[in-house]
Amino acid sequence: MNKQISLINFFVTLTIFTFVFSSSANTTPLKRAAPTCNQTVDYCTFEPQKGNKSQQVLGMVTFTQFTNCTVRVTGQFNTVNGSSSNYDFHIIRSVATKDQPIHDFDNCLADQINQPFQCDLSAGSVPFDSLVGNLCVVMFENGQVDDVVNGTARVKQV
Ligand SMILES: *[C@@H]1O[C@H](CO)[C@@H](O)[C@H](O)[C@H]1NC(C)=O
Ligand SMILES: *[C@@H]1O[C@H](CO)[C@@H](O)[C@H](O)[C@H]1NC(C)=O
Ligand SMILES: *[C@@H]1O[C@H](CO)[C@@H](O)[C@H](O)[C@H]1NC(C)=O
Ligand SMILES: *[C@@H]1O[C@H](CO)[C@@H](O)[C@H](O)[C@H]1NC(C)=O
Ligand SMILES: *[C@@H]1O[C@H](CO)[C@@H](O)[C@H](O)[C@H]1NC(C)=O
Repeated sequence: MNKQISLINFFVTLTIFTFVFSSSANTTPLKRAAPTCNQTVDYCTFEPQKGNKSQQVLGMVTFTQFTNCTVRVTGQFNTVNGSSSNYDFHIIRSVATKDQPIHDFDNCLADQINQPFQCDLSAGSVPFDSLVGNLCVVMFENGQVDDVVNGTARVKQV
């Protein structure tokens, strides 16, 4: 008898609990799932080119997209001489459209292009679906000379 009552109590409690839980789940919005991305690593390597060697910049930049969709940009340029603030690092579609960058890294670099750099682009702030096929570009600009392209490197995927 006692066992039966406690069993009934148990089911009543369970029913109430289920009801309370499901109704509260209905009224409070469910936590939205975090965005998920495939982990990818893109990179661009500035290599020695033929032509005017005094205008060339060498270095490498990697773009690691984590599964939480944050893109971590790390890079280093080895041959940037003179005032770092005269240089920009951008992603462009082509040299012909160098003045309309897909993305500039001015905030990330803070004029420190002669030092190793790292920045995280948060999910949603990344204005590109895929970097692959676009160009990394380092440009020189000092007020007198406008946007001289010191080097380009195509973005590839590992
Ligand atoms: C992630 O990779 C899978 C398998 O290659 C693919 O089917 C899917 O579309 C990719 N998802 C995104 C968001 O790129
Ligand atoms: C190479 O570029 C530098 C800097 O812009 C310029 O002064 C020089 O005349 C150029 N040399 C050649 C061979 O084009
Ligand atoms: C930059 O500095 C390096 C090492 O001092 C030198 O070899 C190179 O010619 C310089 N490049 C320019 C464009 O001045
Ligand atoms: C980039 O180009 C400018 C203009 O031609 C030149 O003065 C500068 O030395 C170049 N920088 C490098 C690192 O080659
Ligand atoms: C995304 O994942 C990376 C690597 O695990 C981590 O360093 C970064 O803080 C994460 N970003 C966010 C916004 O959670």
